[in-house]
Amino acid sequence: MSFFNDVERELIVTRRTEVAEDIVALELAASNGRPLPAWTPGSHIDLILGDSVERQYSLCSDPSDRDAWRVAVLREPAGRGGSVAAHALREGDLVRARGPRSNFAFDSPAAGGVRFVAGGIGITPLLSMIRAAEASGADWTLDYAVRSRARLPFVDELAAYGDRVRLHVSDEAGRLDASALVASAGGDPIWACGPARLLDALGAAATAQTRLHIEPFTAAVLPDPVRAEPFEVELMSTGEVLEVPADRSVLEVLESHGVFAVSSCREGTCGTCETVVVEGEVDHRDRVLSPAERQTSPVMMVCVSRAACPRLVLDL
Ligand code: FES
Repeated sequence: MSFFNDVERELIVTRRTEVAEDIVALELAASNGRPLPAWTPGSHIDLILGDSVERQYSLCSDPSDRDAWRVAVLREPAGRGGSVAAHALREGDLVRARGPRSNFAFDSPAAGGVRFVAGGIGITPLLSMIRAAEASGADWTLDYAVRSRARLPFVDELAAYGDRVRLHVSDEAGRLDASALVASAGGDPIWACGPARLLDALGAAATAQTRLHIEPFTAAVLPDPVRAEPFEVELMSTGEVLEVPADRSVLEVLESHGVFAVSSCREGTCGTCETVVVEGEVDHRDRVLSPAERQTSPVMMVCVSRAACPRLVLDL
């Protein structure tokens, strides 16, 4: 993660569009008129929407456009603060943001096909990937599941791709068949984003040959920790040892001892709090690292992951 991606910047809402029922698209430019940082398909930004309210939103515009970013925000049913505050933004309003950063980096295949699968607002990170796949000449398709046509954003953009886009509208009996989709993908990579139910169905249908890349937009229902009792974290820079009780996260313990740790979602989905582990075995509980990354990358998300051993040494 780049330090500069953790710098807060002030953005101005240059355009606000209701793109579907309960979904608003916001175009954001730097308030000082300077170009925005570069980003790659699959990246997201953190919008700071009030005291202690931050939300991650995928960038869904053209990465080559350094003048403006676009995000789309679904008003959440329970009216949780982040989405309500984002919907309340109007053209001309200022909003602070960090990023972009990416936990969902996309490589358009040089040959063969690529399958995109989206559910609801999960279309957002895929839009820029689709743009890249189209530009590279890849043979791509999108299967997009929505509850109703009223909830379908970016209709014109998707229609321009013709029959590469297949809609599955559940109130028209058009539910997406995850098993059939995975089987038809063969060796083509699948890039999917959406609610846990959709991603779990794809995961359940996957075989050893399936090349499945997923980005959840909700936190997982976590299993019980490997280790129920407290454990220790040692800070490599000072040698200080902190105890992490069973009912607190590593992040909370760090913060309560004045140790600076950047965080955002605090539920294991954004990757902001990634911390290098120098020693010890981690009980990974995030939805950022893939199974392979858990084996090869000496890092953990301190907001949710815990120790599977008595002590972890962290590069802090
Ligand atoms: S703060 Fe988002 S993964 Fe930890």
